[in-house]
Parts: sequence; C-alpha cells; structure tokens
Amino acid sequence: RSVRHYCREAPTKLRISEALSGAEPGTNVRVQGWVRSVRPQKTNLFLHVNDGSSLQPLQVVAASTLDDPSLTFGSAVDVTGVLKKSPHHKQPVELEADHIHVVGQCNPVDFPFKIKERHSLEYIRQFPHLRCRTNAFSSLLRIRSEATAAVHSFFKENGFVQIHTPIITSNDCEGAGELFQLEPSSPENDGNEHFFSVPAFLSVSGQLHLEVMSGAFSRVYTFGPTFRAENSQSRRHLAEFYMVEAEVSFTESLEDLTKVMEDMFRCVSEYVLAHCAEDVDLFHKHVTPGHRDTVDAMLKKRFPVITYSDAIDILNRSSEEFTFPTHWGCDLQTEHEKYLVKHCGNIPVFVTDYPYDLKPFYARDNQDSPQHTAAAVDLLVPGVGELCGGSLREERLELLRARLEEAGLEDTYSWYLDLRRFGSVPHGGFGLGFERYLQCILGVANIKDVVPFPRFSHSCLL
Ligand code: 4AD
Ligand code: MG
Repeated sequence: RSVRHYCREAPTKLRISEALSGAEPGTNVRVQGWVRSVRPQKTNLFLHVNDGSSLQPLQVVAASTLDDPSLTFGSAVDVTGVLKKSPHHKQPVELEADHIHVVGQCNPVDFPFKIKERHSLEYIRQFPHLRCRTNAFSSLLRIRSEATAAVHSFFKENGFVQIHTPIITSNDCEGAGELFQLEPSSPENDGNEHFFSVPAFLSVSGQLHLEVMSGAFSRVYTFGPTFRAENSQSRRHLAEFYMVEAEVSFTESLEDLTKVMEDMFRCVSEYVLAHCAEDVDLFHKHVTPGHRDTVDAMLKKRFPVITYSDAIDILNRSSEEFTFPTHWGCDLQTEHEKYLVKHCGNIPVFVTDYPYDLKPFYARDNQDSPQHTAAAVDLLVPGVGELCGGSLREERLELLRARLEEAGLEDTYSWYLDLRRFGSVPHGGFGLGFERYLQCILGVANIKDVVPFPRFSHSCLL
C-alpha cells in the first residue's frame, strides 16, 4: 500500500516501544509522551519523546514552523505524523511530524531535572513524585516489573499455587517484636476495644499462612508487601518491602530448599538480563559501572554451601577488624555476611545450620547435632549480605509443643499445632527480599533506590 493511502487513514495510536520495534515505515501514527530533548535547527526541529514503554525515545522530526516555546524538556506532547526509516543506525524509524500538540507544559527552571544531565540516585531520591521521569529510575521500575513477572512464571512452571496471604494478621511470625499495630482512626472507635477484638498487626511474613496451605497444595508461594518496624537507617532495610515466600511439603533436607532458591535466583536473573537488556545496561554501564562482571560471575558457578560453624571459623581466622566480634552463637552481622561472600569468591553462598537459639520457634531442631543447631539456611549475596532466609519447619508435634510452651505461646498457636496433628509432613520454605534482589542484580547500594515509594523510620512521603 502506498504512503498516501496510509496518510488518509486515521493515525494509529502506538506505544513508542511498538513504533521502534517493527512498525512499518510509512504508517500514519500518533504517539503521546514526554519530551526528553529539544534541538531546534535552521529548517527542522528535532525532539526525543519517551512514553515509559522503553528506555529509547522516539526521534521526532518536524518543520521549524511547528516549534513552540512551550516545547521544553519535561513537557507532555501528542504528536501525529508518518513513520520514516531513520538514517541513523541507532534507531530503526523516526517520526516525521505534521502536528505537535503540547498537552502539558513544564517550566524548565523549576523542574528539578535538567536536560542532558545525569543526576545521581541520591539526588533524584529527593523527588519521589518526579523521579520516574528520569531514565535511571524508569529503567529500574521496568526491570522491577519484569522481575515480578519472572518470579510468577518461575513458580507457575514449577507447580506452585499462589496464595494471597493476609496483610492484616494477629500473629508475629518472626517473634522479633518488629510489628506495626493496627487500629482504626475513626472517632466511633471508643479506644477501649480492638477493632478485631484482638490486637492486629501488619504482617511481617506470610510464612505461617503458607504453612497452612502447604498442607493441602504441597507447593505454595506468595509475593506481597511485608512490614517491619525496624528502627534502622541502613541501606538494606525498609519498613515496607516486598517478599517472595515459598513453602514446600515433603521436604526432607535443606538441599531440597536451597535448590528451589538457587533455581529461582537463576531463572529470574536470566529472564531479566534477556528481557530488559537495555534497561539493565543503563545501570551496568552508567549507574553502577563494572557490576555486570559481578553478575556474570554470580550466574556462572553453583552457589557454595557452608555451615554456620564453618562461617564462624572463617570469620575467627580472618585478619579483618569487625565492629562486632564473632564467636559460636553470635548472630551474623552485615559486615560478617559481606566478608563471607568475598571469602567464597564474591558469589552467592548458602549458610546452613544456625544455632538453635537464634532461630524462631518454627525452625526444625537438628537434634543430633553436637552444638545445638536448627535446620535453617540463609543465602548471602555480593553487595547486600542476607538475601533469603529459610528453614525446615518443626513438623514433630511434641517438639513443637514443648518449644511453644517454653515461650508461653501454646494457646496462641494452637491452630499451628493442629497442622502437626492432622497429616503433618516434613516441610520447609524461605523468603527472599525482593528489593535486596534488585540491589544485588543492579549493584544499587541503597535499598531506597529500588522501590517506587520507600518507607523507613521518620519517612513516609506521599
Ligand atoms: O529472614 P527473614 O526475616 O525470614 C522470614 O521472614 C521467614 N518467615 C521467611 C520464610 O521462611 N517464609 O526475611 C526474609 C528476607 C530477608 O532475607 C531479607 O532479604 C528480607 O526478607 N528482609 C528485608 N528486606 C528489606 N527490609 C527489611 N526490613 C527486611 N527484613 C527482611
Ligand atoms: Mg533472616
């Protein structure tokens, strides 16, 4: 069909990614987006327009007569014209515009981002309502979206059923006392009675609810927001973060669990590297240069497994001065985790069999261990430290009852004990911090830069 024929048809509205990937030159199209650059020349005006569908903008070429002082960096435009094969090798097509409408102006003096400037992640973090307009943060959010899809397809392909575990709950799964308590703000509430008749909290983990469901579906997972009142200004803690959690019945050993963790890490990472190549490259080339080598090394080898006791030996032998000295029985701090990762070749490493007393009530007792340990495992990764925490769960009724009794929790968890009375099976699971995963793959130092709207102590903007 001739160009003229197309031009008489109503323009086809296209996402810019569609225009750039395979739309026929000669098509009459309409695109809408935000101006990323403006270059007026003698006879022509050149614009780059981005609509968030890809990192690459669409080049728009127009006669200088279409120039308009409100066509500035950041303004919103609606452009119609004909797609032409581009003379530049970097882009397959460009848009020869016959109409440009400025939908929303943007005063370049007040707009916090400047044309052609590469702003740091720290700088753009000050503008949580605007930072998605930058290349770096929009790439990050597209990667986050694709990684989310990859997590779901990993579990679907492996026969897991997704469970929407509740956000409001009456239990403290981790027993760490980092709960946000929930009460209505309405004046009708007389303040003496709990809305749910019992104290209720935002969930710190969906694990206990997944354990319920693993008793019927064998393999279940959840992927949702999780809340912890950690009074921490660290670069790897948020008050609201997303956790991927899986629970698998008929799990006999920690190896069954580490296999799922490692497979998931690899599958999601390979998917992201393949499907978000441009966006990931932006990070690996300009935001966190050099990090690609770390990622490639991570995916090349099987993840080593060491026990907690091995880890303590390694730390005790190290010449590094730690802020927190190490001894058998101590909790591993971020500095220790990072040292262990380096020691193992700067690739992810599993640490298993932690001291029993360090782990919550649900962790399975390694009864015949010389030093009292639990069948728990953490996955430590470069740059971040702990990425996943998991364990076999205590499925033996009497042992579990004794531990709950000791903690005075037998009544609270009578329903949990029931799971061990009716068709109990060996099972286990883990949780992966999704923001920490993104930090690890992209090399981003601060967790606040991998989440759309960060929440942490003394900060709940927007
Ligand atoms: O190690 P955690 O506390 O394990 C659990 O909650 C288990 N109940 C999970 C399970 O077995 N189903 O948390 C799991 C992961 C951590 O390894 C870490 O990556 C992440 O969640 N995480 C946080 N991420 C960001 N901000 C915080 N405040 C986090 N706390 C934990
Ligand atoms: Mg943990």
